[in-house]
Amino acid sequence: QVGARVEALLARMTLQEKIGQLNQLTGRAATGPQAAGRASQLADIRAGKVGSLLNVHGAAETRAMQALALQSRLKIPLLFGLDVIHGYKTVFPVPLGEAASWDLEAIEAAARIAAREAAAAGVHWTFAPMVDVGRDPRWGRVMEGAGEDPYLGAQIARARVRGFQGTKLGATDRVMATAKHFAAYGAAIAGRDYNAVDLSPQQLHEVYLPPFKAALDAGVATFMNSFNTLNGVPATGSSYLQRDILKGDWRFDGFVVSDWASVKEMVAHGYASDLGDAAVKAVNAGSDMDMEGEAYVNHLEQAVRDGKVDVKAVDDAVRRVLAKKFELGLFEDPYRFTDARRERAVLADASHRAVARDVAQKSIVLLKNERRTLPLAAGPRRIAVIGPLADSRRDLEGGWVVEDVRADVVTILAGIRARARGADVTYAQACAPGCASDAGFAQAVATAAEADVIVLAVGETWDMSGEAKSRTDLGLPGRQNELFAALKGTGRPIVAVLLGGRPLIFEDIANRADAILFAWFPGSEGGNAVANVLFGDYNPSARLPIGFPRSVGQLPLPYAQYATGRPVTDERDIVYRSAYIDSPNTPRYAFGHGLSYTTFAYSNLALDRPTLANGQTATLSFDLANTGPVVGTEIAQLYVRDLVASTVRPLKELKGFRKVTLRPGERQRVTFKIERDTLAFFDSRLRWVAEPGEFHLMVGSAADDIRLRGALRLREE
Ligand code: IFM
Repeated sequence: QVGARVEALLARMTLQEKIGQLNQLTGRAATGPQAAGRASQLADIRAGKVGSLLNVHGAAETRAMQALALQSRLKIPLLFGLDVIHGYKTVFPVPLGEAASWDLEAIEAAARIAAREAAAAGVHWTFAPMVDVGRDPRWGRVMEGAGEDPYLGAQIARARVRGFQGTKLGATDRVMATAKHFAAYGAAIAGRDYNAVDLSPQQLHEVYLPPFKAALDAGVATFMNSFNTLNGVPATGSSYLQRDILKGDWRFDGFVVSDWASVKEMVAHGYASDLGDAAVKAVNAGSDMDMEGEAYVNHLEQAVRDGKVDVKAVDDAVRRVLAKKFELGLFEDPYRFTDARRERAVLADASHRAVARDVAQKSIVLLKNERRTLPLAAGPRRIAVIGPLADSRRDLEGGWVVEDVRADVVTILAGIRARARGADVTYAQACAPGCASDAGFAQAVATAAEADVIVLAVGETWDMSGEAKSRTDLGLPGRQNELFAALKGTGRPIVAVLLGGRPLIFEDIANRADAILFAWFPGSEGGNAVANVLFGDYNPSARLPIGFPRSVGQLPLPYAQYATGRPVTDERDIVYRSAYIDSPNTPRYAFGHGLSYTTFAYSNLALDRPTLANGQTATLSFDLANTGPVVGTEIAQLYVRDLVASTVRPLKELKGFRKVTLRPGERQRVTFKIERDTLAFFDSRLRWVAEPGEFHLMVGSAADDIRLRGALRLREE
């Protein structure tokens, strides 16, 4: 039915009107290099030369813009797109933080609420989830993804798409999702944003594409291409990515939007001679909508007349865009997402904050806990809360916050004060965020010296990670290490609460703090979530979705390292080995690492069949027991290694995980299913294959904490 309606409309459109549908312009804000003031924008909307606006939101504003589009000859409604990355009014942890929960239901719930709020504010479409695998924390955008692993990334991509979109487009409490940035944007050389990407086909297919495929399988409505070149071809102009893989092999029937001016940037890349050439190359390569590039709107008509672009390519792109407008129900009622009363009610819904708190506490990673420093004991105590980020609202939100909702944020200090009834809570900021000066250190030390325990809140500021926030130094900015050293001089126990949008390097704190929580940028409820973890109301369960290096020199450092001919088996013997002479190879905190206030024992691994044949499933099972004093949640991880293959395989690849909550003394049998596909890889002849032979199966609590081992043989067919 949608198909027939699209065809009927398409038949009535002029070429100029068709091209208008492929033109997306920004509204009130710039989320890329500032657009030149465009006096004609409103007139262009009225003339049907604009198909979509980004950065316009709020029921009133979207209604006003939609009214303009309805004055055009064919009255085709606009699509409103926005970067709703980790919440609209209610701010959830940044996506990398959410990923640390490994909790697919919680992640889906966060996306559902973000969608509900955004949709009530007139937004039809979010430019999320970002499903780029990120293995180099110098790249600031690791903050927006799900970390370094394709398997975990694929699970989370699916959950986020489901949360944003639901099962069918058209509900007014959901938005269309975007799988971005297609593809391999996360592999920018040296972690520098927008830089070139040079990847083997194996890395592309095994590591970078699986989360996109998972988003597609979950029904994602749109894809966004990316700024980077991939092996010399800009992704925006890549037929291989967009036509062969996405619309060909994967049969994607939604549309592809460019990234901000990425069509135009093909000129700067030296891939297109001018804007007109860029338009030709992008549309022919399958890039359907031009975001803020004005290449299509200014040049496609002529390109069709000159025979450089077949009108069928334009029609195909327009069909895809119109189909989504029909599926959203915008032709029935262009204003169905713009209802000021619903907007007020939804944005005031207090239940959203409970979910934000739940997700935030599930995302906080306990990196270290010596001598049971945490949880903080109940009863009268003196707690000194110190640090530049302890009472900062903005630094709890992180980047990509679309509304100014700072006033709603509960700071770490406020959270501790609210929770620490009966305790004497003192506070000293010591230095402002960024910590340029040590002028306040003496007072902070004096405050800390009076306390039984110090809670020190330090880290990156919110504006240090995200787009265009690559760093060469992942240390704590300013004089925060000196602050830690000064506080250490008091002899009081120190609990460091670190904020950041990426793995940071804080060797002194790692070695000498008594306990460490990594809280990411935890959102509106961050302070309450941190307090709940500090006081043991929530027993931490989060796990790192990306490893933390010891030094920048180790990067990139994925846990899924390839075997070398000269492995290090003993760090004391590195002569003629694949090693550094000045650092261990291992990360400071491995992928999957995260402690709990209880302990877990793994035992009795069993495999129901030692050999697997085509079409069969093997079941691996083991006992997991809570051997500590409190209820706790373990994330048991399954890793696989293919011992001998036609292409050298990583030493470990995550292939499953289970999140299990157990009472003290409780034991549960946990199972993983293993199929031929679990063992497959992309071989040198560019095919997915599972090769017969032996596979090691490893079950554990982190990539560097394997508790049980087994082996499985894949039979020759
Ligand atoms: O969605 C973003 C993208 O991730 C980076 N460039 C700008 C787009 C729109 O704001």
